[in-house]
Amino acid sequence: MFIEALDIMKIYTDERKDIKLAALRGIELMVEEGSLVAIIGPSGAGKSTLMNLFGAIDTVSSGYLKIGDHVLSRSSIPEQELVDFRRNMVGFLWQLPERNLLPGLTAEQQIEFPMITSGYPRELRKKRVNELLSAIGLKDRATHKPGQLSGGEAQRVGLAVALANDPPLILADEPTGELDTLNSLKIIDYFKELNELFGKTMVVVTHDHRFENMTKAAYRIRDGQISGFHRAIGDIKPDSWLQPQREELSFVDQYNNVRLPDELRKKANIGKHVRVKLNDDDEEHPYLEIHGVND
Ligand SMILES: Nc1ncnc2c1ncn2[C@@H]1O[C@H](COP(=O)(O)OP(=O)(O)O)[C@@H](O)[C@H]1O
Ligand SMILES: [Mg+2]
Repeated sequence: MFIEALDIMKIYTDERKDIKLAALRGIELMVEEGSLVAIIGPSGAGKSTLMNLFGAIDTVSSGYLKIGDHVLSRSSIPEQELVDFRRNMVGFLWQLPERNLLPGLTAEQQIEFPMITSGYPRELRKKRVNELLSAIGLKDRATHKPGQLSGGEAQRVGLAVALANDPPLILADEPTGELDTLNSLKIIDYFKELNELFGKTMVVVTHDHRFENMTKAAYRIRDGQISGFHRAIGDIKPDSWLQPQREELSFVDQYNNVRLPDELRKKANIGKHVRVKLNDDDEEHPYLEIHGVND
């Protein structure tokens, strides 16, 4: 596993008001090396908090977090290890283009910049800039500055910048947040394509449900917990990922709690109580029936 997250808690403390807020309440997540994972949930669910932990921008309050060979949940990590981790292990893509791109630089300079700070030789830099520009389909925008790029183009350049230093992990926080439908779908396509092309582990957190169809598994996050996931049934064939067959799964935790997706709960008229019944008519395949009761 490239990312191992076990029972992660993140508690923010507002010292002025002496209030504690549990933004993450027991996150459990395993991400395989080279996979593309979407974590989807509403505003306030804890998505950015989780990205900050995965990117070593912030530290867990408790639990276990390992990324690559780095155990980020150790009680004391040397500052230099964190600096190196942020520089060599992760590339970030944020929602706002202003956070991804520097205002005065052209697209090719943006992509080259992280490689200069990491000391890549010039030849290699130029080669990689070209490779990345063609991978994002923007060779003809090489000399454009951020103000001359559309929102979608700017995010694509941002993605190339994130990949520039060749980090094994790409983290994206609401990468389509500022984009219209067409450009959002395009960005989703580029995530898939670049994931296949470069084989990086990619984690996208978003409220955009269209990311559900992008990956073999897309997780749901709600109130600081992973509440379920969608998974593709069978193989996703190239070209068919927009309409793959999927099933929706919920997790059962160690206390036997199951979280029901809102939609299903509403459709099944489930209020505060449920009647749970074991159906073992077929002894080989017993299952539980969950019925809403009138309350
Ligand atoms: N630095 C912080 N200090 C205190 N509370 C925070 C901080 N950052 C986020 N929160 C709170 O933690 C919860 C999760 O926030 P966040 O991770 O930003 O959610 P999302 O990205 O899914 O919208 C929210 O209730 C938010 O108000
Ligand atoms: Mg956020």
